[in-house]
Amino acid sequence: MNTSSLRKHFEQHFGKPSGGSYWMAPGRINLIGEHTDYNGGFVFPGAVTQAITALIVPNGSRTVRLWAVDLGQGCEFSIDDTNGPTVVHFRYVYGVVRELMERGVQVQGFDAVYQGDVPLGAGMSSSAALECCFANALNELCHGGLDKMSLALVGQATEHKYIGVKCGIMDQFISMFGREDCLVRLDCRSGEYAYFPWRPEGYRLVLVDSCVKHILVGSPYNDRRLSCERVAHLAGVETLRDCTRESLESLKPSLSDEDYRRARFVLGECERVLTVSDALQQGDYTTVGRQMFLTHEGLSHDYEVSCAELDFLVDLARSLGATGARIMGGGFGGCSINLLPDEVYDTFVAEVPQRYERHFRRSCRIIPVAISGGASKIEN
Ligand code: GLA
Repeated sequence: MNTSSLRKHFEQHFGKPSGGSYWMAPGRINLIGEHTDYNGGFVFPGAVTQAITALIVPNGSRTVRLWAVDLGQGCEFSIDDTNGPTVVHFRYVYGVVRELMERGVQVQGFDAVYQGDVPLGAGMSSSAALECCFANALNELCHGGLDKMSLALVGQATEHKYIGVKCGIMDQFISMFGREDCLVRLDCRSGEYAYFPWRPEGYRLVLVDSCVKHILVGSPYNDRRLSCERVAHLAGVETLRDCTRESLESLKPSLSDEDYRRARFVLGECERVLTVSDALQQGDYTTVGRQMFLTHEGLSHDYEVSCAELDFLVDLARSLGATGARIMGGGFGGCSINLLPDEVYDTFVAEVPQRYERHFRRSCRIIPVAISGGASKIEN
């Protein structure tokens, strides 16, 4: 993160900042537990060093002026406007402002510039990073007094109401609660969470961005959620977390094949997260990796959120000696997450881009992972 570059951009667009402060919120990885959050299940994410950084300066009015450095685009809206900007990107900040106000926070106008290095559309939650950066900052600056979980919910409500993505809570939760060198196991039904130190001796986590843009807005992501809700309803439970395998099998004749397979994936994925959390306590990375491969199979065949490029990357990882690999995040493109023994790393980073390019005539990108802290003010 580069605060002097933000300051320069601020001066260019809004003049010399009087006062103001710098804020950040991270993107995330998820070791395992995909599409379980909105089913009341467990997830296992960690915040990463890639983050959104903002300089925010209260302007004493009821107007918000934004400049998104990475887009080279700006926007202005009144905090009292009930429609908000039409450009989707700016609706994230607008939604956060409105959701904070709805929770009683006395938001005031401000000028802000922001930029980030969370790759867009890579499934690393750049949008949650943006929401949490502003939610956390405005809550502090306006003395809102909301706790971290409420701020995560502000981000999630923004996705639901202003963007149209019916996401779960994982991305915003981890952007708020991330801790250096720790993954977090979150129970999305109860909200209970536990930090797991992540220092896998002899292994590394590496992402490969397929550069197939994952766009959840208007995507079949919401359809997956509807399938799950239909099955839960028929099973007489609130979420699939509480549906047993027996109950799913007994419902099979009354379900479409598609809904059945979606639910089968979710039930399996809920079990896999618990297997992984036991294995991590034993330092058993072979089991962790095996579960990651199983998750990919389920996401590809039952949940159908993978694509040719991600299937190729996971197969390739396996053939190069990865301990585990799978598509990460919502799906429909984005990254694979790979658990690599140290001795495989050099060959992996050399071979994967070449073979991918040869096969698809397009580039992919290796992204190193370091597990980092959650949303915070940058003291400088
Ligand atoms: C997206 C959503 C999350 C979660 C994942 C899939 O990242 O924002 O809530 O559902 O997909 O695990």
